[in-house]
Amino acid sequence: MKTTSPAQGAAPDLWHHYGRTRTDTDRSIPGSFAWVWAQDGGPGAEVLGDLTGLTVADLGAGAARHAAHLVTRSAPARVDAVDASAAQHAMACDLYGHLSPHLRLVHADVVEHLDEHPGEYDVVYSVFGGLDFTDPRLLLPATACALRPGGLFAASTLGHYIGGGPAEPDVQHTDIPARTPDGTPTTMPRWVLQEHVWTKLLDEAGFTAISIDRLAPTTSGPRSADTLLMRAHRSR
Ligand SMILES: C[S@@+](CC[C@H](N)C(=O)[O-])C[C@H]1O[C@@H](n2cnc3c(N)ncnc32)[C@H](O)[C@@H]1O
Repeated sequence: MKTTSPAQGAAPDLWHHYGRTRTDTDRSIPGSFAWVWAQDGGPGAEVLGDLTGLTVADLGAGAARHAAHLVTRSAPARVDAVDASAAQHAMACDLYGHLSPHLRLVHADVVEHLDEHPGEYDVVYSVFGGLDFTDPRLLLPATACALRPGGLFAASTLGHYIGGGPAEPDVQHTDIPARTPDGTPTTMPRWVLQEHVWTKLLDEAGFTAISIDRLAPTTSGPRSADTLLMRAHRSR
């Protein structure tokens, strides 16, 4: 378990509450890996290809459930599960610390971590994680640099706002509701962008073979949403 100093430092941990109830009741290693918003099926770990012996990073891993699945099922050399939230990192350590050294739990801002590891990774992924909550003009170039030439980046993100509002046609974040650890309402930035905006950002960051699939939810409801599943390779 590695700790650096996340950029958000002394700022309140806006991920303090996320997943806490599940952590109290479900300590299992998930038997499947889902990309979609509802986490109820759709494409799985095969999107990442054969991970045998590869070095992988999960950006904004939360409690590291996806990373724990990969470590136990896909035989990577190592998965670095990176998260800036002290609460999420602590949950991950509690749930899956025993999977070290193949699972490395890193408490760090993803951009800082990637900048410190040029060419380190064969595969980098994010499941509604760092990509959604970090300026992509910083995150995507840092991701390209941290991948070996030809390495794979795969990420899932919202195809539109929860409630149905359209994604942004420009690189523009929205301040969404959040809560501090003591429950005080606040906001945090989230980037919900149209496919062509992501494609341009990936291209400008040095990626090639870019594809973005839109995955519709299997059930409808007030919190259901389309998922964008993007894949791209670092240019050689
Ligand atoms: C919605 S949660 C998703 C967690 C996990 N990927 C999952 O699917 O359960 C988003 C996570 O991204 C993390 N995160 C957001 N921006 C980050 C950044 N710049 N650096 C590190 N972690 C970040 C948050 O701390 C949070 O744990």
